[in-house]
Amino acid sequence: MWFQLFLLVSSAAFIYAADPNIYRNCSETELCSQLRELQRQNRYEVIIEGATFSKGVASFRVEGVDGSNLFLNITAIEGNIFRVQIEEAVSSRYHLENVLDGEPTIIDFDDVQLTLDSASIIVGNRRAYVTTSPLSVEFYTDEMLQLVIEGDRLTLDNNELSHPFTFGVNFPQAARLYGLHEHADNLALRTTAPGGDDPYRVRTMDLTNYELHSTMAMYGAIPALYGHGVNSTSGLFLHNAAELWVETSNNEAYFMADSGAFDLFVLLGPSIKEVVRQYASLTGVAHLPPIWTLGYHQCRWGYADQEDVQTVIADLDNYDFPVDVIWLDIQHTNNMKFFTWNPGNFSTPFEMLKNLSSTHRYLITLSDPHFKVEEGYFVYDEALARDFFIKNPNGTVFEDQCWPGTSAWMDYLNPEARDYYSSLYLYENWNGTTSTLGGIWNDMNEAAIFNEPNEKTFPYDIIHYGGVSNREIHNMYGYLQTMATHKGLVDRDNGTLRPFILTRAHFAGSQRYAAFWTGDNTAEWGFIPISYSMCLSANLLGISFCGADVGGFFGEPTEELLQRFYQAGAWLPFFREHSNIGSERREPYLYPDNVQQVIREAIKTRYAHLPVWYTLFYEHNRNADPVIRPLFYHYPEDADAFDVDDQLLVGSDILVKVVGEAGVESVQTYFPGGEDLLWFSAQLDGVVYQGTGFNEVPVTIDRIPVFYREGSIISTKQTPRPSTTDMKDDGYTLIAILDDVNLSASGTVYIDDNLSFDYQDSLKYNYISLTANATNVVVSYIDNSDSEGFELVIDEVITVSLVKSKSVSSGEYVKKVYSYTADGVQLSSIRFSGKESVTIKLE
Ligand SMILES: *[C@@H]1O[C@H](CO)[C@@H](O)[C@H](O)[C@H]1NC(C)=O
Ligand SMILES: *[C@@H]1O[C@H](CO)[C@@H](O)[C@H](O)[C@H]1NC(C)=O
Ligand SMILES: *[C@@H]1O[C@H](CO)[C@@H](O)[C@H](O)[C@H]1NC(C)=O
Ligand SMILES: *[C@@H]1O[C@H](CO)[C@@H](O)[C@H](O)[C@H]1NC(C)=O
Ligand SMILES: *[C@@H]1O[C@H](CO)[C@@H](O)[C@H](O)[C@H]1NC(C)=O
Ligand SMILES: *[C@@H]1O[C@H](CO)[C@@H](O)[C@H](O)[C@H]1NC(C)=O
Ligand SMILES: *[C@@H]1O[C@H](CO)[C@@H](O)[C@H](O)[C@H]1NC(C)=O
Ligand SMILES: *[C@@H]1O[C@H](CO)[C@@H](O)[C@H](O)[C@H]1NC(C)=O
Ligand SMILES: *[C@@H]1O[C@H](CO)[C@@H](O)[C@H](O)[C@H]1NC(C)=O
Ligand SMILES: *[C@@H]1O[C@H](CO)[C@@H](O)[C@H](O)[C@H]1NC(C)=O
Ligand SMILES: *[C@@H]1O[C@H](CO)[C@@H](O)[C@H](O)[C@H]1NC(C)=O
Repeated sequence: MWFQLFLLVSSAAFIYAADPNIYRNCSETELCSQLRELQRQNRYEVIIEGATFSKGVASFRVEGVDGSNLFLNITAIEGNIFRVQIEEAVSSRYHLENVLDGEPTIIDFDDVQLTLDSASIIVGNRRAYVTTSPLSVEFYTDEMLQLVIEGDRLTLDNNELSHPFTFGVNFPQAARLYGLHEHADNLALRTTAPGGDDPYRVRTMDLTNYELHSTMAMYGAIPALYGHGVNSTSGLFLHNAAELWVETSNNEAYFMADSGAFDLFVLLGPSIKEVVRQYASLTGVAHLPPIWTLGYHQCRWGYADQEDVQTVIADLDNYDFPVDVIWLDIQHTNNMKFFTWNPGNFSTPFEMLKNLSSTHRYLITLSDPHFKVEEGYFVYDEALARDFFIKNPNGTVFEDQCWPGTSAWMDYLNPEARDYYSSLYLYENWNGTTSTLGGIWNDMNEAAIFNEPNEKTFPYDIIHYGGVSNREIHNMYGYLQTMATHKGLVDRDNGTLRPFILTRAHFAGSQRYAAFWTGDNTAEWGFIPISYSMCLSANLLGISFCGADVGGFFGEPTEELLQRFYQAGAWLPFFREHSNIGSERREPYLYPDNVQQVIREAIKTRYAHLPVWYTLFYEHNRNADPVIRPLFYHYPEDADAFDVDDQLLVGSDILVKVVGEAGVESVQTYFPGGEDLLWFSAQLDGVVYQGTGFNEVPVTIDRIPVFYREGSIISTKQTPRPSTTDMKDDGYTLIAILDDVNLSASGTVYIDDNLSFDYQDSLKYNYISLTANATNVVVSYIDNSDSEGFELVIDEVITVSLVKSKSVSSGEYVKKVYSYTADGVQLSSIRFSGKESVTIKLE
């Protein structure tokens, strides 16, 4: 077995391109090849007569030119959203469950205006305008046309095996389309066309050795799409988990859906921020992560025994690398059986966890959805007896090859199977676990299968609970697993601790249960910038907690590449080094001192900004705003920023650019905001740029471009510690970048117990607004929450300001440090709790 695995990986390590013999392109896929070049034609007509309008739902009869009978329903949803459903009058289409975050709130129409061949449905400042022949629906906000469902490319087909449908969408205001995650491609979608690039394929699969700049399907599948232009943004979310192929241009998309229902949410913005919030109002937001998951994670497929766990952590400590978590891949199990420990190599898991806990570290282990077919393995026996495995069409249990050899797959569509699976995470059911096993890694859940005939994933026709074919729900299988894992982890601690789950497969709404990473990437330069593009795409589509394997999963990074990977990864929400079993060990202490020093600095910079990350995750939970953002999110009118995707904004205040090439001495960095906006180097060393577009920014091996926006207050903790838990009693250093006009700055900081749901359940937290000028800092409380125990302790305030307004070059500004920890000063630090605003004089 091990020999075979080893071969698999080492041979893969030399290919670096997805195998065309395994993965199908458009012309090899019936759905895409047959429907791609569908002619524009009038196939359906809306019948206005007899339409009903009641309680926010408009329902029209639709006639096909072939005589078929359908209906078109348009529902007004709270928050500038319409829902459009088109379906056969007699239909056996599958309707998704479990995805939406509650039933959307329907609101009444304000007015309906009918003519013989049109209907206007008016709600506040928005309007849906239906025309009859060919069927089309136009959506307006304030009389600006935002989005059109183009009926001349609408088809619905009902055959026994599948129910394919197609439709076209036009975004008249858009200069770019974004979304349809997950692809290893630029953030702004490309123009695809017959004879050119394949359409974007949206289907969860284990795309082994994925290549860059491709429209091939990958681990995640989020059927949402936004159109953005200088004047407005709108979007759509197709509530459907079947395979899609989507032809795109800069303002049009043509959807080919394999099955399921035409159930489309139209998000009318009209800003990118509002579109993101509208999408989140349907699919939810993430709860706060436990704070330790925002630290550095050390992982390798190859930590094979508990001594390894002990020594890797000890060495990271000895060499002064902060770390919060160590990860175990499949080797922790007894012969690939999940929910067991390998009795030889992990003989005393309680002791291992106790040791980890004594250093304030956590463990995360792998847990996949496939189960070894072996009588006597308790999970297999029970799931078989209770009919919890996915079936073949003939009713036998579906079996295929995966890590354990012959395996069966848990049927997470079955609520009882989900509950059973959740219960496996209870301490009493998984012996040798404690809360120090703080998180779970759901891998291979696309689902991945070793055999190749079905593109290394499930065949379309296997059967889930209720007789539902995989074709209907394929893209949400991994999502359902994380839902069950999440419940298991909540339950095992009686709802007292926030779970952490990392998933590879993901779908719309996955943010409610899990973080994800960009899967099995490669130790090559292009994988650094693509990690920003892919994580930004996910952030626009609700999933903030994203990262990429630092170093590259396949292959061997050069020292320079590894350093650049760490520097880039430190500014993604999820920060983990990972490598495969066939590669050289690459823990950071194995490198020469100069390399270690660069990596150490990258990790320490991450820890210093922990309060920024934690506050942003809170604000995501509160407002649905992404944690990291593409430039156009904050500068929506700056058309030159629409294609910038190897840079990101952490919140609104920190601008980061990757260094994604070998041996460079400078990188082109885009500064947004216009000439009146200044960006100050995060090193606070005098480098400053105006927001006038691209500038060549010098870099050295220990420095990538990181800038703070003028007018912002960055909350940091500057004392280096081995883990986030060890930072608990440290005070904050506030860095106020005073703007050059008003000499003022503002920001927020959020503090709670870092681990529990008390912030939700009993409003135990402190959310603070900060404003500063050259002489004062004002601290005030945003909510009337229970802030006891969560006071803000300020050790130090650093103000940075330009001396001469507008004259931008280095050396012309002043940095002042006001320390409240110096001996002899009456306050050792300043503590704020209570409810009153407080003004501190800087002197
Ligand atoms: C699709 O894949 C087949 C088989 O690999 C190949 O022969 C064909 O050229 C591909 N088509 C396109 C358009 O890439
Ligand atoms: C469409 O609207 C009609 C009339 O309100 C209703 O009977 C039908 O259930 C609706 N269909 C869907 C899928 O909502
Ligand atoms: C944006 O709106 C302005 C003002 O209405 C208009 O002049 C301009 O043409 C619009 N730009 C685009 C790209 O539609
Ligand atoms: C157990 O650990 C040893 C090294 O300590 C390793 O060689 C072996 O492969 C491990 N066994 C398994 C099943 O991982
Ligand atoms: C736990 O730590 C003790 C003391 O360092 C060590 O002797 C022991 O081997 C460790 N046990 C495990 C399972 O790591
Ligand atoms: C059922 O289908 C599976 C998969 O096609 C096949 O391997 C198996 O032999 C079939 N069993 C029966 C009893 O028909
Ligand atoms: C749990 O594991 C420990 C050793 O790790 C063992 O002593 C104990 O008997 C096990 N308990 C159960 C219920 O299997
Ligand atoms: C959860 O609650 C049950 C029943 O009150 C109790 O027995 C168990 O110890 C609790 N578990 C945890 C982890 O708090
Ligand atoms: C300065 O303050 C004015 C008035 O509050 C505000 O409109 C302006 O945006 C501020 N300028 C900067 C650069 O923050
Ligand atoms: C939560 O973590 C932050 C950052 O380490 C720390 O400032 C705060 O004191 C912690 N709160 C508690 C209650 O541990
Ligand atoms: C600085 O802020 C304080 C507190 O808000 C205010 O009283 C003071 O007038 C401000 N100073 C300047 C120069 O704006």
